[in-house]
Amino acid sequence: MPLPVIPRPAVMELADGSVIVADGMPVVALGPILGPVAQRFAADLRADTGIELPVVTEGIAPGGPPAITLAISEGGLAGLAPTSGVRADGRSVTEDADERHALEIDADGVRVWGATAEAVFRGTTTLRQLLVAQLEGGRAELRGARIADSPRFAWRGLSLDVARTFHSPETVRRVIDMCSLYKLNVLHLHLTDDQGWRVEVPSRPLLTEVGARGALGDRPGGFYRLHEIAALVAYAAERFVTVVPEIDMPGHASAAFHAYPELGGLTPMGSGPLEAEGIGSLPAISNLDPGRPEVWAFVEDVLDAVISQFPASAYVHIGGDEAFGMPDTAHATFVEKVIELVRARGRLAVGWQEIARAAIDGDVLVQYWMDPAETESITGSEAFQSAVPAEFLPILLEALAKSTEDVPRALEQGAKLLISPTNRVYLDRPHAAPSADPAQEERRRRVGLPVYPPASLRQGVEWDPIDAALGVDSDEQVAGVEAAAWGETVTDRDDLEFLLMPRLAGVGEKAWAISGATDWDEFALRLAPHATAWDRRGWEWFRSQELPAAVTARPVSG
Ligand code: ACM
Repeated sequence: MPLPVIPRPAVMELADGSVIVADGMPVVALGPILGPVAQRFAADLRADTGIELPVVTEGIAPGGPPAITLAISEGGLAGLAPTSGVRADGRSVTEDADERHALEIDADGVRVWGATAEAVFRGTTTLRQLLVAQLEGGRAELRGARIADSPRFAWRGLSLDVARTFHSPETVRRVIDMCSLYKLNVLHLHLTDDQGWRVEVPSRPLLTEVGARGALGDRPGGFYRLHEIAALVAYAAERFVTVVPEIDMPGHASAAFHAYPELGGLTPMGSGPLEAEGIGSLPAISNLDPGRPEVWAFVEDVLDAVISQFPASAYVHIGGDEAFGMPDTAHATFVEKVIELVRARGRLAVGWQEIARAAIDGDVLVQYWMDPAETESITGSEAFQSAVPAEFLPILLEALAKSTEDVPRALEQGAKLLISPTNRVYLDRPHAAPSADPAQEERRRRVGLPVYPPASLRQGVEWDPIDAALGVDSDEQVAGVEAAAWGETVTDRDDLEFLLMPRLAGVGEKAWAISGATDWDEFALRLAPHATAWDRRGWEWFRSQELPAAVTARPVSG
């Protein structure tokens, strides 16, 4: 039996002895910077298992009762593989954001140590998983073990679409908890799109007064107030997650045009009056025009407001995708100028793969998303062609056809890639396997974009990030791995969680573990025991028949 830890640690060895962790065992934080980590661990463990552990700051004398001890130390960590990629918070993987850590479990208790507070936090996350897996009668018996670990990639993310469906801050906090459990460290918020604008720009009040009124179809609108963003950023930081804002430009900008029609450029496709239908009801060509001075005044106002609300992010995601109908030169001009404006504000740019069609510097990140084989099969499909108005189709096909050149262009320009291929980590795909719970089958039929072939949990792990894109053959070319959850078919929190869990565990595995192609059967053995925590947290997770029946049964309440 492998130890039930995801992502799979680099070193896992069983050792002598065992220890029972139960209410009252002290968590000892050696050093003031570990106080918050110890408190976080105790609170998360209580939520995952019900076990209540007090946090103390005094060491336990040798021969004293068993304890969980957290310490800053690099002892025994030197042999771990170095981390590749870049951090969303701009910190260094070899210095202040070194995540290497180790755990030792024996009859004296558990010792967790690492190079930094963040490293120790990752170690306590491993410990949480072990305790969840062994939970029985309100306590957990751990076998002796030694674990040492470090991440493969520095950027391990989830992109969350809050434009097509607005999710409350409470829902976003639940998503941050899910990310944190699987050692993901970036929440990329897709804050603007055709269907809604979700972030306050005080100098442009209509963006939220008008642009946040609705969402896709008749779903309720909404936006995050300044204090709500501040609270989300802080909540994420306590879990060592960086929130990266995306303002999608120059395409996907209909919500901005509805708020400020003088920005120009909104050309609805199809037939029927746009006003009567509401934001996002018609496909639109809605690209911001780099030739208009008022567009640049607008972009500067937006960047100023957004950058001040996300101070921990070294990056601003500028979108750049699917600027359908825009001439290539105009798109490139737009992208180059936005990157410059972001840089002038002390930040770096990340954008969807289409930004590689512009001249970019090597410090810009390019987010690869269009798996070529899948893009071809989707655009050729009946479902896709019937979903898109006839006059829009050629424009769309032409834009998508250019996608195969994006990754080579990004690499030629020295840019690193975020690996986000549709066929592996777009989590808004229908689930392929049936649910073990008949009550979930209605949701399984409804949730997930029908243009995508359904995906199994297995498909989410049996691949390797550097094999995902043509021309990529080294971790050195990669910034990290990021999943995406788009909102077209997501009507509420339960729909969202149903797509995310347990797929996010697989994303953590691919972004962190030195794995090659993970073996599904071995992964499933490690994954299944975690269901106890998902149930205790009340997450609406997909009870896939790919998992053992003992795990997918609904827990008896009480
Ligand atoms: C994307 O899926 N339009 C990046």
